[in-house]
Order: sequence, then C-alpha cells, then structure tokens
Amino acid sequence: MDNILRGKNILLGITGGIAAYKAADLTSKLIRLGAKVKVIMTPSATKFVHPLTFQSLTENRVYLDVFGATETYEIGHISLAKWADLFVIAPATANIIGKAAAGIADDLLSTTMLSMEAKTVFAPAMNTVMYGKPVLQDNIKKLKEWGFGFIPPGKGRLACGDWGEGKLADVGIIIQHIEYHLSSKKDMEGLKVLVTAGPTHEAIDPVRYITNPSSGKMGYSIAASCIMRGAEVDLVTGPTNLEPPINARVYKTDSAIDMYNTVLKIFDRVDMVFMTAAVADYRVKETASKKIKKTDDSLILELVRNPDILRELGKRKRRQVLIGFAAETHDLENHAIGKLESKNLDFILGNDVSSDESGFGSDLNRGVLFIRGEGSVPIPMMNKKEFAHRIIDEVMKRIR
Ligand code: PMT
Repeated sequence: MDNILRGKNILLGITGGIAAYKAADLTSKLIRLGAKVKVIMTPSATKFVHPLTFQSLTENRVYLDVFGATETYEIGHISLAKWADLFVIAPATANIIGKAAAGIADDLLSTTMLSMEAKTVFAPAMNTVMYGKPVLQDNIKKLKEWGFGFIPPGKGRLACGDWGEGKLADVGIIIQHIEYHLSSKKDMEGLKVLVTAGPTHEAIDPVRYITNPSSGKMGYSIAASCIMRGAEVDLVTGPTNLEPPINARVYKTDSAIDMYNTVLKIFDRVDMVFMTAAVADYRVKETASKKIKKTDDSLILELVRNPDILRELGKRKRRQVLIGFAAETHDLENHAIGKLESKNLDFILGNDVSSDESGFGSDLNRGVLFIRGEGSVPIPMMNKKEFAHRIIDEVMKRIR
C-alpha cells in the first residue's frame, strides 16, 4: 500500500475559530504528502486568517461564497462536492456541526456539505463548556450515526484561557484520521493485533539505565498500518517520544520485565503479534535504590538474563500468528532464520542495523522477510510507514 494521500482530492472547510490558523499547517502538510487541496472558508473564518494564505499554499483559489464558487458554467458547490474524495472541516465550530445536524445549508460550506457524496469529517475546536453542552454532544452522536466522521479534540489550555477538552486535534492526528478515512483496504477487519515497539529501560539506579537506540518508529508504523487496515490494535510500548497512533489501545511499559508481564496479559485474546520492540536481553542484577556515587575505581555491574518475551509467546501460541523482528549487524540470514526456528515464529523480518540510513531511529527501513517453510521476500529501502504495509501485505497474503 503506497502513500494513501498521494493524488487524493481533499476539500478543506475552515470555519470561524482561533484554531483556523492551524489549518494552514494542515494544508501545507497534506500538500507535501501528495494530496490536492481546495479550501472553502466561511465568512467568519476569513476574520481569523486571510484567504490569501490558503491560496498561496494550495495554488488554487479559495472558495468563499455560493455565488462566487463557479469555475466556468458549473454549479460551484456541486462541482466542489463531486471533486472531493473527502471533505474535512477543520476547525469545525459548534455552529457548523449544528447546521449539519439540522440540514441547514445557508452558505457555501454548508451547502457543499449537503451536496457531498464523499465522507465529511469534522475536527471540532471550541471552548470546553460549549463542547460539553448536551445539544452539541447530541448533534455529534446523530451525525456519527449518519456516517459523518469526527476527530476528537485534544485537552489542554484553550485560546480563551480555560483548560479542558476543545483544542483542535494535533495536525499529525488529523492527518492520521484523513488517511484512515481514505484507505479503502480493510483486509484486517475483525483481527486483534498486538504490536510491541520501542526500547526497554533497564535501571542501574534511580537516575541511570541501560537501553538501545530504538525510537519506536517501526513498531508505531506497524500499529498505525494495522489500524488503517481495520484491525483492533493493542500497542505495548517502551519509552518513546512518539504520538501514539489513533484508535490504538496503548500500554506504556519501561523494562523488559514490565513489557513481558503486559504482553502476557494481552496475548490470549489476540490473533497476531508483531514483536517490533528492541527488548534488552540483560538487566542489572541488583538495581541500586540510591544514586551510585562515583569513585576513582571502575564500576562493575553484574547483568542477568531478561526473559525472552517472544520465545515465551512461541511456546504458548495456539491460533496466533507470530511475527518477530531481528536486528542484525552481520550474517542476517542465518541469524534471522535461527530466531524464526528457535522462537517458533511464523515470520521474521531481518533488518540490518549497522547503517545509519535505516533501522534504529531512521525514518527508513529495509530488510528481508523470512517465512516459515517458504523462503524469503526482500523489502527494499522505503519509509517505515510503507515498509510496515509491505510486511503486512506479505503476512495477509498467507493467512487469509
Ligand atoms: O524503533 P526503531 O528506531 O524504528 O527501530 C526499529 C528496530 C530496528 C528496533 C526494529 O526494526 C527491530 O529490528 N526490532 C527488533 C529488535 C530486537 O530486539 O531484535 P533481536 O534480534 O534482539 O530480537 C529478536 C526478536 O525477539 C525481536 O522480535 C524481539 O522483540 C524479541 N525479543 C528479544 C529479546 C527479548 N528479551 N525478548 C524478546 O521478545
């Protein structure tokens, strides 16, 4: 599955709220990801941001009113509605949500929405009290039942100074929702998938630990791709700085033992496991309860083996499909196949982590997928999102 946004027509509706300025960042990112964007603004949105901003970003005119939306002989709101693969309203005010729920079409944005065959997705942004009002929540419920999409607002400090729910969702989250709605391949629907990601921290004392350079990008990309394709995902993550994928159930863990206990609690109810985490093989035998003070002598730490989570899953598996990852610096094939056999896996992705270009920390990866009883499929260098989809394509081909 390629970049879902490439070549897609996204109609962006901007309504009047302070978060309208964030729509500029959204527009720019969508265009960088290969989407074509046209913008409709309500009159109040133009009081917050000048249409010229969006005209420059999209290299398209900005559509402002029903009678000025006509390109040639066409009816403006109809041609915009036909053009769009998805209509995203960000920020969406309580007013536009109320109009949609009541079927009111009194400006270009609401009229286009009513003429739209493609899906409409709202990203609400407003004061927290407004957001909590029963009338608004009822409207959202009704619209969801009718098939409209909603991107939940974030929590935090709002422009009015209040704290609470109502902040426009982060642009990265909005983009994930857009990708979700545009992705037609839902071949993982009904599957429960467990994904592990990131490094583990093995404490030496309260302020020091042993770890590795895993950023979590590979595991989070696998989790996001499974979600795009309709799976229900439990993401067990070691410490990372990443924003979790939308709709994932996230379990934050720290050490290998913590990850082991969490994974085993979930394992029985899943159908598939992607063990992408870089789990430390060793931990310090005795963690110091106080900060270790330096002396002139060397410091000797005794390390003991951590449990091998994947090996344990290999012993316990019944229906579950197990996909391991092997991070190798040399002799990739032998090492990866050895782990496939000894851990009783169905697939293992061997990736070379000796170069800076791919593997740990990078946005890119390349590797070879080894398949039990079948051979291997090389996957060339690509971004981790596409890489994740390629692995899943190969797995799904063989299990469905
Ligand atoms: O997070 P990124 O920066 O995006 O980097 C991605 C990655 C390089 C970490 C990822 O692609 C990867 O290779 N993950 C596996 C890293 C690893 O621990 O490899 P390994 O060869 O040591 O282990 C083999 C398998 O056993 C892995 O699936 C691992 O999760 C699992 N394992 C290992 C040790 C252990 N104690 N328990 C385990 O379950």
